Amino acid sequence: MNHNIVLLPGDGIGPEIVEQARLVLLAIGKRFGHEFEFSSHLLGGIAIDETGDPLPPATVEACKAASAILLGAVGGPKWDDPSAKTRPEAGLLRIRKELGLFANLRPIKLFDELADASPLRADIVRGTDILFFRELTGGIYFGESGTSGSGDDETAFQSMTYSVGEVKRIVRMAAKAAQGRSNRLTSVDKANVLEPSRLWRRTAAEVMSSEFPDVQYDVVLVDSMAMHLINRPADFDVVVTGNMFGDILTDEASMLPGSLGMLPSASVGSDGPGLYEPIHGSAPDIAGKGIANPLATILAAAMMLRHSLSLNEEADAIEAAVAAVLTDGLRTADLARGGESIGTEAMGAAVVAKVSSAS
Ligand code: NAI
Ligand code: MG
Repeated sequence: MNHNIVLLPGDGIGPEIVEQARLVLLAIGKRFGHEFEFSSHLLGGIAIDETGDPLPPATVEACKAASAILLGAVGGPKWDDPSAKTRPEAGLLRIRKELGLFANLRPIKLFDELADASPLRADIVRGTDILFFRELTGGIYFGESGTSGSGDDETAFQSMTYSVGEVKRIVRMAAKAAQGRSNRLTSVDKANVLEPSRLWRRTAAEVMSSEFPDVQYDVVLVDSMAMHLINRPADFDVVVTGNMFGDILTDEASMLPGSLGMLPSASVGSDGPGLYEPIHGSAPDIAGKGIANPLATILAAAMMLRHSLSLNEEADAIEAAVAAVLTDGLRTADLARGGESIGTEAMGAAVVAKVSSAS
């Protein structure tokens, strides 16, 4: 089958790491007999430079027609002028909106080989493998807001809203993912205080009991969850939560593995292409040096195979190849902790070699 993959390399290290992911996908195609067709399009600072628009119409069109989208990162000091009309990140926000991507998937998986890179004790973090589903297009970040008054009476407000439909669709998505993993789902809310959280909790419980009675389901308050993530992160499997709680908890959780360069993420909707990317930024401090860690982007490509193209065996093969290169002791500089390291291309080539040699 043909898969049409749009690449949005973006800025900084983006082009370097996306190229390694592309080569890994080619190797997967060769091994499993798939045709991946790639086309690159402009997004972010480079798009501003070339067209004045961080998300040119041609990019939107290509993305809408794609099977899936692989993104590097956008932004950098060159475009940070606060007086600029438009910023690279604006392109990222708009493409998510254009594609109706309402769920952000953030796996927090600790590779055992890297357990001593965590800021937490290895015995606490070992075995951590959480998949977060963060609602991305609703909640307080998109609520009505305003200001009034002046002086000490100046007041600002921002309201949190969730509808039953918004909750149902993301809980369903998370529950289905749980069925493909260890069959456990945790919903995080603040139902002891917030009205939208009470609607969230009631709706989630209804969806779970009527549609997913086989999935082990529990609820945790967001403040407790912040503690549990530090105390017993290995106890969680799939976690679903609203936009703001998800923003904060996923950033907290992303510190557990101790290496930004290993973490992928995805934004997906009900149908249409999903958008896959590393969670780190464009790392302008190391751009062009050939030392960026391509593994987060390679793991994002694995997520793409799993969640957008239903190629689970192929996704497993990439993840196994990444684990295997780590077991071999290969490290990019960000993982090496002062020890011996290899560059971006060498790391990509090592993953390609594992993918190609396994049978
Ligand atoms: P960053 O994630 O780009 O970099 C933070 C630190 O981690 C830097 O020291 C960098 O060298 C290192 N790092 C990041 N990715 C790495 C990799 N793959 N291999 C090795 N080291 C890596 O975050 P920062 O510095 O706050 O932001 C830089 C630019 O990226 C800014 O313009 C920011 O707006 C943008 N950004 C873009 C994102 C996106 O496109 N989704 C997300 C976050 C930031
Ligand atoms: Mg955040």
